[in-house]
Amino acid sequence: MLKKHKTLGEFIIENQSAFQYTSGELSKLINAIRLAAKVVNHEVNKAGLVDILGAAGDMNIQGENQQKLDVMANDIFIQTLKNREIVCGIASEEEDDFITINSSDDNHQNKYVVLIDPLDGSSNIDVNVSVGTIFSIYRRVTPVGTPVELRDFLQKGDEQVAAGYIVYGTSTMLVYSTGAGVNGFTLNPALGTFYLSHPDMKFPESGKIYSINEGNYVHFLQGVKDYIKYCQEEDEDRPYTSRYIGSLVSDFHRNMIKGGIYMYPKSNIAENGKLRLLYECNPMAYLAEQANGIASDGFRRILDIEPTELHQRVPFFCGSKNMVEKLHECIAKHA
Ligand code: AHG
Ligand code: MN
Ligand code: MN
Repeated sequence: MLKKHKTLGEFIIENQSAFQYTSGELSKLINAIRLAAKVVNHEVNKAGLVDILGAAGDMNIQGENQQKLDVMANDIFIQTLKNREIVCGIASEEEDDFITINSSDDNHQNKYVVLIDPLDGSSNIDVNVSVGTIFSIYRRVTPVGTPVELRDFLQKGDEQVAAGYIVYGTSTMLVYSTGAGVNGFTLNPALGTFYLSHPDMKFPESGKIYSINEGNYVHFLQGVKDYIKYCQEEDEDRPYTSRYIGSLVSDFHRNMIKGGIYMYPKSNIAENGKLRLLYECNPMAYLAEQANGIASDGFRRILDIEPTELHQRVPFFCGSKNMVEKLHECIAKHA
């Protein structure tokens, strides 16, 4: 049964030449992410043993402080990328500022920067619900040979050369794109190998699932309220089903497979919503568009937004084409 499925390693090698700036660097980078994903997966799977092994903040047997899983995931990704010397800089949701990576020859020859949300949906860890990691990759804009600068990270989402996520769910999957469609790989934990299980993933053009934290309903703009009412009205294919996990990665993953829309709007209390443009929205928008979906802030394509700061937040609507277009109609009526 395993034989007919390609491994992620084989897939990376086969597709390397299809990538426009082929020097093998991006392949090495995806390989490093693959490795970090396996390590984080191992840690996430142990999370339920916390009563036995000790909770975050406790001392472990070596007298070291147990780390929270989001801090641990952050360290694992950063350390793996540092060790392999394949990026010149990293920005993470968990870090105040970007990190400059010095290569051992101190020449700053690497071309890529990585932006990550190391653990997405972290509040779900304690209750044994799926979490994820999101990553986004750009070519630096500053010259090779110099240290990275803020502007290497503040690029429009359209400039991404690759993006993806790992979902630590009932199975662990790595889903990514380098601009030629989206492919999903499932981890066989017994072998520690990812296999191509979901080639060329696409959002169905229409769907029946809407995902939003409806508890915030009173704070939403009228256009979004109208769309929610539309989802709940009775018609040929409605009412739709409401599904909200509270991990963007998991909600997006389900919606891409089944057809649906994810919404994190701005509200009267959060001017720009909650999600981060650079670590969450840009990579997910890139994947969505690669998979025939749409991602917007209600008015503009996410990938067109010029970032102004690392931890910038933005309203986020993403999913099946027909559903996001209907939402845009509702928003436009009140604009
Ligand atoms: P993170 O754990 O990286 O901070 O992200 C959580 C995000 C996202 O994954 C999720 O969809 C959303 O926050 C949930 O927010 P609410 O609890 O406000 O609905
Ligand atoms: Mn997140
Ligand atoms: Mn996070």
